[in-house]
Amino acid sequence: MDSKRVLLRDKYFVPFLTREEIARDVRAVAARLSADLPTMERPFALGVLNGSFVFAADLLRELDAEMPIHFVKYASYAGTESTGEVRQMLGLAVDVRGRDVIVVEDIVDTGLTMRSMIEYLKGMGAKSVRVATMFCKPEVFQGAFRLDYVGREIPNRFVVGYGLDYDEMGRALPDLYVLEEGQD
Ligand code: IMP
Ligand code: MG
Repeated sequence: MDSKRVLLRDKYFVPFLTREEIARDVRAVAARLSADLPTMERPFALGVLNGSFVFAADLLRELDAEMPIHFVKYASYAGTESTGEVRQMLGLAVDVRGRDVIVVEDIVDTGLTMRSMIEYLKGMGAKSVRVATMFCKPEVFQGAFRLDYVGREIPNRFVVGYGLDYDEMGRALPDLYVLEEGQD
């Protein structure tokens, strides 16, 4: 276990979930979403950059049916802390009117990012907005909305890997790592 400890910039991270465990969770989400897709109106996936690119790629390839994907970019984190402020960095170049949108996220933490996404998409005329997230942190979630498809609930710890970063480091790690205790 200790041999897999990784250093990203100034912080150490230790293994938390293996790629096999993550893959099982992704398959479970894909099965639930695949079952719901036939009832949806021109559904498309909307990945939230940068973190969701790994989960989005895995999820779409596990679905039973073809589904279009687009991306938007938001940022609310600086280092390992949420700034409480969500900035839209890259706009949406697709007509969402009358469509069922599945927002694909790497992780929902406070839910602030997702809340502004949902409001924005509803304002643009989406028929419905559902959320598919690989991870969520129920201890800090403050959203007044449903997380429709969740890969796995995790404790309120800072994690990296599987698309998630610490200051843009660690996104390509295939396994999930957690910040070693005593460094927060
Ligand atoms: P929220 O707005 O508080 O829900 O934060 C959501 C965004 O913060 C996610 O899309 C991630 O980009 C980032 N984030 C939240 N928790 C973590 C974490 O543990 N590691 C890395 N990034 C995180
Ligand atoms: Mg993100």
